Amino acid sequence: MTEGFFPLTIKKLVRETADATTFYFDIPAELKDTFVYSAGQYLTFEVEIEGEKVRRSYSLCTYAGVDSEPAVTVKKVDMGKMSAYMNSVLKEGDVMLVMPPMGKFTLVPEASRTQHYVLFGGGSGITPLLGITKAVLVAEPNSQVTLVYANRNLDSVIFKQALLDMEKTHEGRFKVHHNYDSAPITYFGLKGMLSSDKVQSIVKSKIGGPFDTYQYYICGPGPMMEVIKDGLKGLGVNSDRVHTEYFSAPTSKNSADEKPQQETDFAGVSQITLTVYGRTHTITCDQNTTVLNAAMKQGIDPPYSCTVGVCTTCRAKVTVGKLHMLEREGLSDAEISEGYVLTCQSVPRSAQITLKYE
Ligand code: FES
Repeated sequence: MTEGFFPLTIKKLVRETADATTFYFDIPAELKDTFVYSAGQYLTFEVEIEGEKVRRSYSLCTYAGVDSEPAVTVKKVDMGKMSAYMNSVLKEGDVMLVMPPMGKFTLVPEASRTQHYVLFGGGSGITPLLGITKAVLVAEPNSQVTLVYANRNLDSVIFKQALLDMEKTHEGRFKVHHNYDSAPITYFGLKGMLSSDKVQSIVKSKIGGPFDTYQYYICGPGPMMEVIKDGLKGLGVNSDRVHTEYFSAPTSKNSADEKPQQETDFAGVSQITLTVYGRTHTITCDQNTTVLNAAMKQGIDPPYSCTVGVCTTCRAKVTVGKLHMLEREGLSDAEISEGYVLTCQSVPRSAQITLKYE
């Protein structure tokens, strides 16, 4: 079995839409502590498909305060090997290899807190937001949640009935505004693609109130997330109130300018001492190869999933030496100043480097 993964049995499957399924996992008593999670975190899976090991991460849609088993919802995507496999092949009773919960797109509720949370979800981006919504509604009795949920059409809405039920149960504290790319003429709600102007209009007219004091959580397709972030910025919402979870590499209007400048003061092969799963290894890595790729080529199997710098599964702390990160969306400024890097995006910039996976 791949190091860092644990076998979990699928206890229940729920077909949410024509192309999305929720998987509930049975957690054996001896793994209960290992699989403790916060609302909004994700699980990483590894399966072998046609002889190739495939890893993907999927957000938990559950909240441990109300759901007896953790669950992820997986939407089948074009060319998505894992999502097609999970939606078409897996059944109740099957066993999957799963890494313990990870991720920083979380909300840990506090009973004494009073807060308005505004969530923007697009398509399967609803999954972590559902867990976060449950956490607030159940464990922060003075807080409220507004969800703006964008989908292609009415048939592609995941958790449609669950959201309706939650609105009824928590009337006055939970409101959903659906937005459809296309909808029947008889639908009088929000329609058309989201834009920055539209986001500002929704926040001002549909939500209202002191919107610069709200906490915002955004998860969905990259371009949609960018227009929402732009819209909130235009409203004067401080960026530390905006929390994002990317499922793919973020799109940038000006990526060449926004990415850190390539540091070119090192050329050659670096010697890297890395500690993973409690064992220390020494590898070599040239200035154009990422630490993750070098480690894997030299027989080490560190934790990773997306390989594009968004999931942070491959995060490690550097204590000696220097690395250059090609993409850093998943890490906060504070983590970077503490020495954390994403090893799937980091190439050496010094002859000696020491790092530890955490
Ligand atoms: S593997 Fe996802 S950020 Fe590196």
